[in-house]
Amino acid sequence: MISEKRPRLTSLFLLLGSSTMLPFTPKKPWSKLPSQVQPAVHVAQEVTDALVVTKKHEIILLTRKGITELPFNKPLPNVRWVTADYDDPDRLSEILQGVDTVLSFIVTRSDPENKAQKNVIDASVRAGVRRFAPSEWATSSFEHLSWYAGKAEIREYLAELNKRKKVLEYTLFQPGQFVDYLCYPHQTSRHVHPFQTQIDFNARRAIILEGSENARVTLTTAKDLAGIVARAVEYEAEWPVVGGIKGDEITITEIIKLGEKIRGGPFTVEKLKVEDLKAGIVKSSWFPKVDHPSLLPAEVETMAKGFLSGMLLGISAGVLRVSDEWNRLLPDYEFTGAERFLTEAWER
Ligand SMILES: NC(=O)c1ccc[n+]([C@@H]2O[C@H](COP(=O)([O-])OP(=O)(O)OC[C@H]3O[C@@H](n4cnc5c(N)ncnc54)[C@H](OP(=O)(O)O)[C@@H]3O)[C@@H](O)[C@H]2O)c1
Repeated sequence: MISEKRPRLTSLFLLLGSSTMLPFTPKKPWSKLPSQVQPAVHVAQEVTDALVVTKKHEIILLTRKGITELPFNKPLPNVRWVTADYDDPDRLSEILQGVDTVLSFIVTRSDPENKAQKNVIDASVRAGVRRFAPSEWATSSFEHLSWYAGKAEIREYLAELNKRKKVLEYTLFQPGQFVDYLCYPHQTSRHVHPFQTQIDFNARRAIILEGSENARVTLTTAKDLAGIVARAVEYEAEWPVVGGIKGDEITITEIIKLGEKIRGGPFTVEKLKVEDLKAGIVKSSWFPKVDHPSLLPAEVETMAKGFLSGMLLGISAGVLRVSDEWNRLLPDYEFTGAERFLTEAWER
């Protein structure tokens, strides 16, 4: 929508739950500092940056934090923070008045029964929001990924909402896995916190599922996800419901070969058996440390086996292979392929 107060802006957007807005830093996108000394910041901020540089949008960032908890040292242009109570649908719908597009980044695992996200969806409809993107930003499906159950439920909720008549246009942005994670422990994007995965370029080792060597996975850089979202919000025709974003697609074996080439030596590969994982037995000699900032240190330890097992079974079932709807709708967008990205990153 055109904001009357700011005629030079063409649209009004809102991002949910971006916890800390850090000022731009002079740091290069690639830093050899280990992640532990990097700020723990996230996907919504990567997208916010990409929207801000277009200078076309007025952005509202919704947070549960109080005004005094927010950093005000260097606010971004046309970005405004609003404290939201997700249990107050009337107030939510007031905040959303005049908003064109809502992008949600709520961690569904931390949103019991999806109460907050459902309230935002309902408030968006009541406020006349045109477009909505739920907190997807990852896989095509959720088989074996118990921690993504909330995303699956929100898909059903949105489909049900539009069953009789379309009341809210939406797209499920799906970039697969961020290729940035293959640079752990180094941070390759401005905001996405790196964590270790089962293919560990740094330690030249991998854990795979026996028989999944040719399973295909989509690898997209965090920067390309943000770049596509910034173009998608300007895309005037109707959004596709499934919004696959395919930066690159390669097999598990090809990722390991690429790692060996880039890291200059063979990887130690451990192969786990499907029947063991399905019986809850995870026999690897190490476990990737998924230290996502939303997890407590104790949870990182206790959930490590479950994450590994779910990811290995999920990859084999094709959860990380996404479609290419946004590639086809935005054919001029130039993605950075996995090999180029990883080669350049590990060379620095
Ligand atoms: N494809 C990939 O490889 C990949 C990697 C990472 C993440 N992702 C996806 O990207 C999305 C964002 O992840 P992230 O790591 O960037 O998240 P995050 O920044 O850690 O969290 C996003 C925000 O969600 C808000 N939030 C959490 N629980 C909430 C609740 N119950 N009610 C309302 N708000 C709540 C918090 O905001 P406030 O505290 O400010 O309210 C939090 O800062 C997720 O859907 C995730 O699955 C994908």
